[in-house]
Amino acid sequence: MPHGRHPPLSLSDPDARPTPGEVLCRLDEIPDGGALGLSYGSGVKRFKIVLFRRADALYAYVNECSHLTSPLELRPGQFLISEDGKVYCAAHGAGFRITDGACINDVCAGKPLVKVAVEVVDGAIVMAAE
Ligand code: FES
Repeated sequence: MPHGRHPPLSLSDPDARPTPGEVLCRLDEIPDGGALGLSYGSGVKRFKIVLFRRADALYAYVNECSHLTSPLELRPGQFLISEDGKVYCAAHGAGFRITDGACINDVCAGKPLVKVAVEVVDGAIVMAAE
């Protein structure tokens, strides 16, 4: 690696990913229509997840924009969510549909968010096997 260059901070390092069966939080910790960001690991080994709740439905993604790998939120926990079910990256405005993570504007150039497999068990959000 050239002098003075650092490896990029990965927000989706598999070594920091919660293991299947691990409880992430409770569904009722996320307001209906809102989102919750969770971070695992430390230093350059991080795995960041964003959970979106719509009534009893839950959508989970790696919290890493497909444009330049920034986390989606402006400040921790402050996601830019539109009333029509889109989330916009605070860095440069890439837009994604919450229900499937699809990119909806030119900034992310067709690259979706990466889904994270979770399930709700007795009101708890649990990592599922991929
Ligand atoms: S890093 Fe998200 S829009 Fe650029």
